[in-house]
Amino acid sequence: MTNPLVLLLSGPNLNLLGAREPEIYGTATLDDHVATATTVADGLGLSLEHLQSNHEGVLIDAIHGARERAAAIVINPGAFTHSSWAIHDALAAFDGPVIELHLSNPDRREPWRRTSVVAPVATGTISGFGGDGYRLALEAVAKLLA
Ligand code: DQA
Repeated sequence: MTNPLVLLLSGPNLNLLGAREPEIYGTATLDDHVATATTVADGLGLSLEHLQSNHEGVLIDAIHGARERAAAIVINPGAFTHSSWAIHDALAAFDGPVIELHLSNPDRREPWRRTSVVAPVATGTISGFGGDGYRLALEAVAKLLA
């Protein structure tokens, strides 16, 4: 049997991880995080596909494409977390578990980051654990799919 597919989505500006505000987001690059996530997924019997985009519509198309194909979605929507009702609606149309993931803890930061429009359609949220969040998110997915 093939491993269930987990779609890992990274939103705007996350392509700059490692260089972007390292005091907040750390020095690991997105490639580093994806490599970790791929190894963890493999160990959990999951297969992982990753897409990063700075464009809302590309992320929405990827969420639509995950319908019928992926078992779960792990998404760090970046700043779209706080504004994108379109990503909210796309995720609402996805049947499997959705994990909202943040490297930082947005609740500890500027007031405008304290609202997530994605949270109401997420199974759960993991935030504030830096790169460890990828492992935690995939462990949560594995338990939810078991
Ligand atoms: C983030 C938090 C968001 O508020 C921010 O806009 C990001 C990254 C995080 O991973 O901590 O781009 O999603």
